[in-house]
Parts: sequence; structure tokens; C-alpha cells
Amino acid sequence: MAMSFYVTTPIYYVNAQPHLGHAYTTIAADVLARHMRQRGADVFFLTGTDEHGEPVADAARAQGLEPQQLADRNAARFQALMPQLSISNDFFIRTSDAQHKAKVQEVLQRVYDNGHVYKGLYEGWYCPRCADFKVENEILEGNRCPIHEIELTRESEENYFFRLSAFQPKLEQLYAERPDFVVPARHYNEASAFIAQGLQDISLSRARLSWGVPVPWDPTHVFYVWFDALLNYYTALSYARPGEDLTGRYWPATFHIIGKDILKFHTIFWPALLIAADLPVPEHVFVHGFLLGADGRKMSKSLGNVLDPFEVMQQFGTDALRFYLLRDVAFGGDGAVGMDAVTARYDAELANEYGNLASRTLAMIARYRDGAVPSVATDPALLAEFAELPREVAEMLDRAEATQALELIWQRVRRLNRYVEERAPWQLAREPSEADQLDQTLASLHEGVRALTVLLHPYIPGATDTLLVACGAPARDYGAAAFAAAGSGARVHTIAPLFPKRDR
Ligand code: ME8
Ligand code: MG
Repeated sequence: MAMSFYVTTPIYYVNAQPHLGHAYTTIAADVLARHMRQRGADVFFLTGTDEHGEPVADAARAQGLEPQQLADRNAARFQALMPQLSISNDFFIRTSDAQHKAKVQEVLQRVYDNGHVYKGLYEGWYCPRCADFKVENEILEGNRCPIHEIELTRESEENYFFRLSAFQPKLEQLYAERPDFVVPARHYNEASAFIAQGLQDISLSRARLSWGVPVPWDPTHVFYVWFDALLNYYTALSYARPGEDLTGRYWPATFHIIGKDILKFHTIFWPALLIAADLPVPEHVFVHGFLLGADGRKMSKSLGNVLDPFEVMQQFGTDALRFYLLRDVAFGGDGAVGMDAVTARYDAELANEYGNLASRTLAMIARYRDGAVPSVATDPALLAEFAELPREVAEMLDRAEATQALELIWQRVRRLNRYVEERAPWQLAREPSEADQLDQTLASLHEGVRALTVLLHPYIPGATDTLLVACGAPARDYGAAAFAAAGSGARVHTIAPLFPKRDR
């Protein structure tokens, strides 16, 4: 039986349109999903939209729409984004799906029946954009939201509470037993510190709101949107394939990929809720940083420092956007992004170091050997330098270290460029006595480009598929990433530049 691998993105709010941050997390998750499929894992990859709650209800009202109308309109935009970004998700969940709502009620009824819910009066500082009450130590000066910086409102209402405080020992045990439950480590430390401070019970329902999943034991309330939203990771498996329940096959999730803005929900509330519902907790939560404007400040329309993913794709293509985001910002940390940096990476790395290497390799095999890759031994020195690469890349991607894995691959792209210069095949071609050397050089370059292209496939799926076909070796499973000891005899054909120089 193949190992199962279940990876998720956050589900995105439909009160706004898709932007670069949404594209970023989804692309990163897609790289992991594609890589694990290459390795023969039984992969399920989920993304979707978060459609309930006050922010959506407010945004709909402001536009004179019903919440469902706004949700339908914006969910369609997120759904349309996925193929544009070459995302290979296996399902797209919408929390307004009837099956999701029924499953949320089933799970939370169990939490209630298990005695982890009580009715009480809640009063606190509330951010309508987060749909969240803030605890005193995270509130900014002037009673402002630490994320949105807008003024918080003082709210009180009677609602149902989830007894989070009772789960402190279980969470401490989880963190003690599983140091890789939250990665990278600094976010594990942040979550542990939050638990160590002492946990307060959290409200589970809203009485003032009707746009949400009704509480089955008291239909005058709807569930607080975060509980409905978190449960998407679990509910989707029960109805993604009509007539089939995938829960046993994929639960618990292998990786939840999230931004650091939603750490508390995924690393504290979520495992506590699952334990309360007698369900296994996910293996890992990977927390990435913020994409910032080129000026290093938070991206915002008013600062004019927003990088538009659609503009990047229009000018440079989808592969370039995917490559840029995982190459230029170390996955896990914060990083500034902007059009100048996209241009620089595209020109220097995709067009020149990789695209040009591929074109030259194919052109030389066509020119000097009539398009047939010499069936001779590849260069043993180069073979040695590539031998460990597939294993190293797999180990890094097992930890979701997508930028580090890409860097390892790119070191070999640069190695092949040096190899071309060292061997100067155009000089070897002038000397009939050097025919063996030329054979070895061409076989080695072909093999190097081919093997690296297999490893690059999860990052730049479009260009790599084109190139592998041109190499006469379309296989792109993980086994095909091994640098072979002999040239394949495959027939190549030349192609237009994969990453053409652009008119500027
Ligand atoms: O929080 N840099 O949805 P959301 C990097 N519905 N990533 C960013 C980003 C940025 N500047 N901006 C957004 C929600 N993201 C909830 C989630 S999950 C059960 C419910 C990404 O539309 C990042 O993944 O506000 C972040 O966590 C997510 O978008 C927030 O998307
Ligand atoms: Mg947000």
C-alpha cells in the first residue's frame, strides 16, 4: 500500500478577491503534493473557501447582496485561480456545501455530548475582520487589532463555550511528544509559549449572527466561523468523492500549510477540538511567513507596494510566478517581493541559467549527433555530484522546506553551466580525435538536464513537461530523477526558448 499524504491550504475568505498571499500558500502546497505524487504516495490535496461569519455577512450587506450571493461570486474567482496557477488540488471545498455543514454539526455535537461545552456570558475586545475576540496581551495600543490595526469593539453576548482550558495538559503532552508537530521550530516555540501562559475557554457559537452553521442543540445560534472553518480539513474527506468516504484513507492530515497570521487557531484550538471529538490530530502544521512589499512593509493598496500575481503571470508566465515565490522568499520566513526582483530572477535564473542550458544542450545534440543522445558512459565526476541529490531533495520536502530543496537543485543547474564552459563541446566538435569526449559530454549534459528537470517539475510543471518531451524522456516519477551511469540513446528535438527574453 502506498503511503498516504494529505496536504491542505487554509480555506480563503470570500469577502475579498484572491491575492498574492493566497496564491503563495497554494503554490507551496502544490509543490509538496506534486513531489509526493512523483514518489508514488497516495496524495490528497485540498484547498477551498471559508464562506461563513461576520466579515462575509458584512461585506455582502455593504454590496447589497445576500451572503450566499457574495460567496458564490468570490468562490468562483478562487476556483478559477487554481488552474491558472497550475494547482493540482484534488478537491475544492466550500464551507457553504451542505455536506460540510452536516458534518460540522455531527462532530461538534459529539464535542458537546462529551461534556466539553457550556453556556456562558462572553465579554471582550472583538475584531470583526478577524471574526475573533482578542486577549489583552495581543491588543495594540488604542485597543487596535494586532493584524488589521483597526479599532476593536467591546462586545458581550451569551454563547456556548468550548472548554479549551481543560485541554492544557493534553496539548502540553502533544507538544512534548511531537517536536515536529509545528514547524519551523520558532513557531513551535511560539505555540508552546502560548499554551504555557494558560489557556482560556473560547466561545464556540454566535447568537447575533445567522450566516453560519446552526448549532444542533440550540438553533438560535450558529457556530463561531473558525470552528466551522477548521473542520473543513476533516469534513472534505467524507464527501469529496461521491459515494466514497476517504476519511480512513487520509485522516489525520500530513501537512496543514498556513500563514503565521492563523497560527493560534491551527496549533492550539484545532488540536484541542480534535481531541475533544475523539479524532486524531494532524501530523504537522507548517507555518510560513508574510510576503511583504518591495519596501519591506506590509503590502497594502494605499502604500502602492502590492505585487499582483495576475500581472506577474501575464508578463512572465505561471511557472515564473511559482518559481519566484519559492525561490526569492525562504519558505517559512518573511520576505519582500516586487516586480524588479521577479524580473531579475527570471532573466538570470530561468531564462539564462536554466532555459539557456536546456536549449544549448538540445541544440548541440541535434547539431553534433543528429539528435541522438550518445549511448556511452556519463562523466563519473558529474555522476558523483548528482548521486545524493534526489534523496536530499526528498528529505527536505519531507519537512516542507521548499526553498532549501530548490536551492540544492539550483546548485546543480549552475554546476551544469560550468560543465559546459569546462568541456567547451564546440571545441571538441572541431577535433575528430575528441569524438569520445564529445559523446561523453553530450550524454552527461543531457542526463543532467533531464534529471534536474524531473526534480524541478513540482515547481515549474509547465516548462518541465515541455522539456522532458524534447529530451525524448518524458518519465517524471521520482525514480527518473536518478542521474544514470550511461547516456540513453534517446532522440531529442530542439524547442523554442522555455523562458524567452521579453520585450521591455
Ligand atoms: O485567514 N503573505 O483566510 P484569509 C503570505 N479563512 N501569506 C498570506 C498573506 C501574505 N501577505 N496574506 C494572506 C483566513 N496569506 C481564514 C483561514 S483556515 C481553516 C481559515 C495567506 O483569506 C496565508 O496562507 O485571510 C494566510 O494564512 C491566509 O492567506 C489567510 O487567508
Ligand atoms: Mg486574513
